[in-house]
Formats: sequence, structure tokens, C-alpha cells
Amino acid sequence: MVSKLLSRVREYTKYAIATPLFMLLEVAMEMVIPLLMASIIDKGINAGDMNHILIVGAEMLVAAGIGLFAGIMGGKCGAYASAGLAKNLRQSMFERIQTYSFANIDKFSSNSLITRLTTDVTNVQNAFQMLLRMGTRAPASLIVAVIMTITISPKLSTIYLTAVAILTVILVIVMPMTHKRFKMLFERYDAMNERVQENVSAVRVVKAYVREDHEIDKFSEANQNIYRLSVRAERLIVIMMPTMMAAVYTCIMLLSWNGAKMIVDSTLTTGELTSLLSYCMNILMSLMMLSVVFVMIMMSTASAQRIVEVLDEEPSIANGEHPIMEVADGSIDFNHVNFKYNASSEDNVLSDIDLHIKSGETVGILGGTGSAKTSLVNLISRLYDVTDGNIEVGGVDVRNYDVETLRDQVSVVLQKNVLFSGTILENLRWGDPNATEEECKRACEMACADEFIDKMPDGYNTYIEQGGTNVSGGQRQRLCIARALLKKPKVLILDDSTSAVDTATDAKIRKAFREVIPGTTKLIIAQRVSSVQDADRIIVMDDGKINGIGTHEELLANNEIYRDVYESQTGAGTGDFDEKEVDA
Ligand SMILES: Nc1ncnc2c1ncn2[C@@H]1O[C@H](COP(=O)(O)OP(=O)(O)OP(=O)(O)O)[C@@H](O)[C@H]1O
Ligand SMILES: [Mg+2]
Repeated sequence: MVSKLLSRVREYTKYAIATPLFMLLEVAMEMVIPLLMASIIDKGINAGDMNHILIVGAEMLVAAGIGLFAGIMGGKCGAYASAGLAKNLRQSMFERIQTYSFANIDKFSSNSLITRLTTDVTNVQNAFQMLLRMGTRAPASLIVAVIMTITISPKLSTIYLTAVAILTVILVIVMPMTHKRFKMLFERYDAMNERVQENVSAVRVVKAYVREDHEIDKFSEANQNIYRLSVRAERLIVIMMPTMMAAVYTCIMLLSWNGAKMIVDSTLTTGELTSLLSYCMNILMSLMMLSVVFVMIMMSTASAQRIVEVLDEEPSIANGEHPIMEVADGSIDFNHVNFKYNASSEDNVLSDIDLHIKSGETVGILGGTGSAKTSLVNLISRLYDVTDGNIEVGGVDVRNYDVETLRDQVSVVLQKNVLFSGTILENLRWGDPNATEEECKRACEMACADEFIDKMPDGYNTYIEQGGTNVSGGQRQRLCIARALLKKPKVLILDDSTSAVDTATDAKIRKAFREVIPGTTKLIIAQRVSSVQDADRIIVMDDGKINGIGTHEELLANNEIYRDVYESQTGAGTGDFDEKEVDA
């Protein structure tokens, strides 16, 4: 895991190496200063040698200057390295997520991917910076200070080596406890983030159902939980501070007491005592820093794990060895296809679908909610892969195509479609980046989108807000159809794409399809019989199976479900799909 993350430091490696070096230089300067101090006191002040004081004083100034410079440079390089790591991690994760299939995304959920890409990366960034700076500084300073004190006075150094030992034991006991608490805290953060993201992205629904109070309650609960856990986690850390301080001052007292006696006995000089006191401070401070570094690392391991999971996820749909780059025609063959979303679930969503559609045919698909219409068409452009059997487009198994080629030729207007922030033209050019304005307009005419675009103040340059919130549902559907048409696909699939369009416009769109793109195979999923009744063939789906195939007249004569729905929609009957299911 660590090597996976570190490999992302890449072009910032020089900063990552420079940081600890600068930190070591800073430590070296910090360690020299107490020695110089001792020299000033012993050889300067006590001996009354003003010259010595001035020379060593100047040396101290230089050492302090170098230390300051090293500290600043270390901080700067550390920031470059850690921010660079975060940047690269986000980039790698984003690129990886782009290769995900629908199945991969189902596994993580979009909310969790967002948290991983933001909060988790920030946690790792902070920990990495801490590790580069404090992680080198603290142990180095600790080791050097211990060696220095032992050389100055082995006897006195035993005093605080005991203190150090005691503190280390406390650290070892407390740290795992804090780790546990912080881990719990971060899990709760996830829960809260999900609440916020879900609520904000669906704020219109929340308002429509007047669920604001309910949502606020749920949020307060998540928020309160975090409050309690943070206090519990921080409480442990807070205890550390006074404990350390108590240890520092006890040491200083013991040192002064014993040191004074040794000075009287002439086994220690005053200067040596002052430098011992400084080293004592250094050692305890280093311990404190080390404990903070530990906490940070502990906190970030959970985040690091979640990042690596995203990077390691194998896209479930990828190109084969020698992908085919050309789709011959728009014929579609389902050969005894079974499909389920989750390999471990028992029931098939689609079972034994055997269906053969000729190139250029128009096929309507009708069926109740949850009868697997969307699942059926999503298999054609390989948004999901079949579980058993196979699907051929243009006579070739879809898994043998280059995925991009296939999706260019099989254009799907998804049931849950979205527009992106940008102008109408920009959105249309998702279908074909090189489309001229003329071509875009023609596609919009076919999709009956030109009528409302012409009425907009900026026409084709009207800005669409994120998620397409400033156009109506029906307008959005028509734009999505136009966008799909611009791909000039061999197969065009409309998944309930005219549900929000009035019947007359719906008919106009279908007429345009017939006249302008007769060679394209058209699959039209609809709830209204009128949307499909003039199709060459109509498929009636029921509970993941094909219940009937035929023309409007044939189905009216032979298919009970179709007849029921037709009668209900033309006013002759009562049932619709769902009521039909209850009846059965
Ligand atoms: N991503 C998914 N993961 C797991 N199960 C799913 C997923 N999408 C759909 N299903 C399940 O598959 C079944 C068929 O769903 P599908 O979306 O294909 O129905 P549909 O006929 O398109 O319905 P509708 O008319 O409401 O659009 C449903 O029972 C649904 O719960
Ligand atoms: Mg559907």
C-alpha cells in the first residue's frame, strides 16, 4: 500500500528528498547552539573573555540563521511534496474512475468515490507532510540530544533517560487507544458526508416532500455523533500535553538540583548545565512531536486504504486482445442471454433472451416497471456484460469490439440522463466533438428541440446549469436525443426518452427518425403504446422475460398484456402495467 502511494510522488520526488535533508540541517544547528552557549558561559562569561563572547556569539548567530533558513526551506519543500502527492493521487484516481464500468461504480457508490477523492486524499497529504518534516526531525533531534547529554554528563543523563522511558511507555499505551477513537471518528465523517451529499444533490426532492425537518434531525444526529467522538479522541491527546510538561519540569528540577551539587564539586561547569537543560527540552519536545506524527499516521492509514482500493479496482469491462474497430451494420442478436447484476444473487434479472433484430429495423419495447427493459438495452452497448449467452452487434460478439467503437455506433439515450454545465452547443458536441453548428441544428430539428432553443435568449449558446436544471424535463430529453443523434450511430436506443414529451411532438420525432435515418436500427423503450405502435416489431417484456413479439396488430390479437395496456391507454380498459401485475 505504502509503495503504491509513494509511487505517485513522481515529479515531486526531489522535494520529498530535500525536505528531510533540510530538517536534518535544522536539527544539527539546534544541537550546536547549546554547545556554543556552554562555551560562552564557561570560557567567556566565567573567564571574563569579551573577545570569546563576541566570536562565539557571532557563530551562534550564523548557526541560528542557517537553522532558520533550513526550517523555512524544509517547510516549503514539504508543502510542495505533499501537495504534489495529493494532486497526483487525485489525478490517478480520477483517471481510474473514468475506466470504471457501471458495475464498478455500483460497487463503490458515487458518494463514497467523492469522499475518497477529497477528504481521504487531504488526510494522506497532511500525514505525508508531517512524516517528511516531523518524522525526520523528531527522531534525529532525539538521538543527537541523547548522545550529547551522555557525552556531557553520563550521570545526569540517567535522570531524564528514566523520564523518557516513562513517557515512552505512556505513549505506547495511549497511542493505540487514540488510533481506535480516531478511526471511529473518520467512519462517522463518512456517514455525515454521505448525508450531506445525498441531501444536497437531491435538495429539490427534499423540498418537494417537505422533509427538511426530518433531514435536519438526521443530520444533527450524525453531527452530534462526530462531536462526541472528537471530544473523546481529543481528550486523550490533551492528557498527553500536561503529562509531558510535568515530566519536563520534573527533569529540569532534578537536573538543576543535582547539577548544582556537581558544580559545587567542580565535576560540572555552569555552561554544561545550561546546555543539558536545553537538550532536556529538545528531547521531550521530540517525543511530543513523535506522538503527534504517530497519531497522524494512524489517522491516515484508513484513508490511504480507501484510496488504494479505488486505484486497485479492476474495470470490469475492458477491451480484449485484438479489439475490432469497425461495426459492420446495426443488426442485433441476443443468443440465449441470462443476466444478473450481482454474480452472487440467485435470480436472473434477464432470463433466456433470444432475440434477433435486423439492421434498420425499428423495435418498440414495452413492459411494466422493473420488467428489465433498461437492463436489456444496457447490455447492447456493454454498459454491463451478460452473465450467460452472448450478444452480437453487426454479427460480432460485443465483447470483441473496441469499447469506444461499439459505444460510438450504439448510441443510448439513458433513462436517467443528464446534461452538463456548459452551453447547449457544447452539450450537443458530446455526441460529436467536430460537429458543425449546421449539423447540431439538424439534429435538434430531428429531436424537435429547435423550437424551444430558438426561443431562448442566447439560442444555441444558452448556458445550461449543472445537471441541466434550467431546462424542463421534456426539453432535456429532446436535447439528449439530439446529442445521441449527432453520433450518427448504427443503433439508436431511446430508453423512455420521450416520457416527458407531449404525444404530438413524440410522433414528430419518430417521423423524423423514419425519414432522416432509415438505415439506423432503432430501439424505443416506452410506457405509451402510441410511442411504439408504428414500430416494425414490438417486444413485450414481463419480469425479465420476453412475453411476446410482433406488430401492433399481431400483439393486439395474441398478447394479453399488450391488449390490456392498449385498452387502458385508449380509454377502453382500466389497468396499466402495474395493475396488470397485481391482477396476474
Ligand atoms: N444497478 C443495478 N444493480 C442491481 N439491480 C438492479 C440495477 N438496476 C436495476 N436493477 C434491478 O433489475 C431489475 C430490472 O430493472 P430495470 O431497470 O431493467 O427495469 P425497467 O424495465 O427498465 O424499469 P422502468 O420501467 O422502471 O425503467 C429490477 O428489479 C431492479 O431492481
Ligand atoms: Mg428502465
